[in-house]
Amino acid sequence: MNEPMQDPVDAPDLRDLVPRLRGRKVMVVGDLLADRYVLTEPARLSREAPVMIARYQSEEMIPGGAANTVANLLALGADVSPVGVVGADADGDALLDHFDGLGVDVAGIVRDKEQPTVSKTRVMVGDPNRMKQQVLRIDRDPDHPLSEQVRANVLERVRERVAPTDAVLLSDYGYGVVGDAVLDAVRGAVGDRVLTVDSRYRITSFRGVTLATPNEGELEAALGQRVRNLDELESAGAQLRARIEAPALIVTRGNRGMAVFAEGRDRLDIPATGADEVTDVSGAGDTVIAVATLALAAGADVADAARLANLAAGVVVMKVGAATCSPDELTEAAGTWA
Ligand SMILES: Nc1ncnc2c1ncn2[C@@H]1O[C@H](COP(=O)(O)OP(=O)(O)OP(=O)(O)O)[C@@H](O)[C@H]1O
Ligand SMILES: [Mg+2]
Repeated sequence: MNEPMQDPVDAPDLRDLVPRLRGRKVMVVGDLLADRYVLTEPARLSREAPVMIARYQSEEMIPGGAANTVANLLALGADVSPVGVVGADADGDALLDHFDGLGVDVAGIVRDKEQPTVSKTRVMVGDPNRMKQQVLRIDRDPDHPLSEQVRANVLERVRERVAPTDAVLLSDYGYGVVGDAVLDAVRGAVGDRVLTVDSRYRITSFRGVTLATPNEGELEAALGQRVRNLDELESAGAQLRARIEAPALIVTRGNRGMAVFAEGRDRLDIPATGADEVTDVSGAGDTVIAVATLALAAGADVADAARLANLAAGVVVMKVGAATCSPDELTEAAGTWA
């Protein structure tokens, strides 16, 4: 038997929740990435090789990974304390300047002199005033795991910052900031405050968190089983929630929205919103965990936290690049939906 629970239409007005997100203190521990966009326009064909020559127009850096989660929290008025690692390079400077300019305490960000900032550079080509297409992505990944020293520094920053927060958000893209020592330190200190996690490769290591937000692919990989239909989703979601002993799990499902698994409740399926003009889905998962964490910290139950996160994700997928959702946009989305 698999009766997906219909999301009730008479849901309490989620709009009232939006102003309550403001001012929540959240520590984000995770892999800070730099998403770089190099914007170009097509010029001509090369005589050196059968390739296009593109003329450079401009470039910009957008926070990615855990840094995108930080950006999403800031956009909703949260008081964010990021802990992570950047290199002693231009991308590291750009990330620190970006957050410093927004009034964030960046002293929790450790600078690694031995390795570059993890970056993903997209070369975009297209005529001015038109949507550009991505033609190449250049990833800069570290050659080695984080050093002992860097990990010790991260742990120290976590310990210094965990006490006064309303919530701790772990954003683990697999680059090593969120190790077992960090998890133990956070778990030991967080008590009954909100602790959420998004983890690309290690979700089953995060026992005892308040909420985990895997996508379907991560759910499949964690359990080593396929999720091809709602019955398999039901079974896999319940298993993973039990395995990590978490009161709640939000499984994000791309354009199919999300499924919420919570203690003592039937699965709740929430359809995706804002799907008609989808522009770029990258980073939507970062928005989901940011909004859900703030909503839980504001006292919402997991169903409302998930509904609000789903609405915010619906807003950001209509924007280019890893993007954020403002309180006004979220209020408007909630108004149309409720
Ligand atoms: N095509 C889409 N149309 C509408 N909403 C979408 C679409 N793709 C994603 N979303 C929204 O974004 C949420 C998260 O998307 P998804 O499941 O792709 O996360 P993800 O794989 O973790 O993404 P990423 O890791 O790139 O941030 C979904 O639950 C849904 O609310
Ligand atoms: Mg994700």
